[in-house]
Amino acid sequence: MIRSSLAASERLSRAAGVKMAGLDLAQPLTRAAKAAIDAAFLAHHVVVFADQRLTREAQFAFAASFGEVEVHGLHRGESKRHGVAHILSNLDEHGRPRLRRSRAANYHWHTDKPYRAAPPALTMLFAVELPPEGGDTEFANTAMAYEALPDEMKRRIAGLRVVFRPAFDEGRPAVVHPLVRTHPETSAKALYLGNHATHIEGLPAEEGAALLRELLAHATQPRFVYRHRWRLGDLVMWDNRCLLHRAVANYETAKYRRVMHRSVVCGTVPF
Ligand code: SIN
Repeated sequence: MIRSSLAASERLSRAAGVKMAGLDLAQPLTRAAKAAIDAAFLAHHVVVFADQRLTREAQFAFAASFGEVEVHGLHRGESKRHGVAHILSNLDEHGRPRLRRSRAANYHWHTDKPYRAAPPALTMLFAVELPPEGGDTEFANTAMAYEALPDEMKRRIAGLRVVFRPAFDEGRPAVVHPLVRTHPETSAKALYLGNHATHIEGLPAEEGAALLRELLAHATQPRFVYRHRWRLGDLVMWDNRCLLHRAVANYETAKYRRVMHRSVVCGTVPF
């Protein structure tokens, strides 16, 4: 059955987030439903769909309605598979929960894969196994944060470019993007930074690092942040072009399992 009736949307915070009811994402989307999701996504940057029942194939099909889905895999024993959402978890290769605290871990504020020439436009996670409490994800609205900067700071950072390199493999070639990027669909300006940003092109290392720290602290103030408290069956999709996000280790990560299915939709070169 194709469900097309959309119940009212509920805004989740001033910074970001809207919950959309009345959709079964395992079914093909009607045009009206797709248009409603697109509009909600651009207006609120994080869209939450509760009580979903999705196979990895169905999640991939839903993600593919937003663009080309990245092929993933070769990650902690997973084989490369096409056409399915991949698995993101706190488990080791034996399936045991573990604490992962490396510089590359997603507990640090980041946007997905900024070290790519064309980083992903959107990411979605589907909650499959959760700890009894906690295991939240936070999102910081970097367009709102940019808007709130004093004019003097906006002038100072206009035209600056950030060098990104994966924190898990600093041997890889660097990629350079604008520190203030323009959203390709809304034209809103947003700060582009976070984990994997190594320095600012053309600035002395310490000055660039201090600027990145200052802007990150500004962008991640509570007034710009929406914290998602997961429930099983939640599918959450977010816009990497105007948000930072991080997993919150507010549970016993070495005791409880947290398993998500993840899909990433390709984006364009930031400008
Ligand atoms: C991510 O950083 O892409 C995932 C965040 C999470 O697991 O909550």
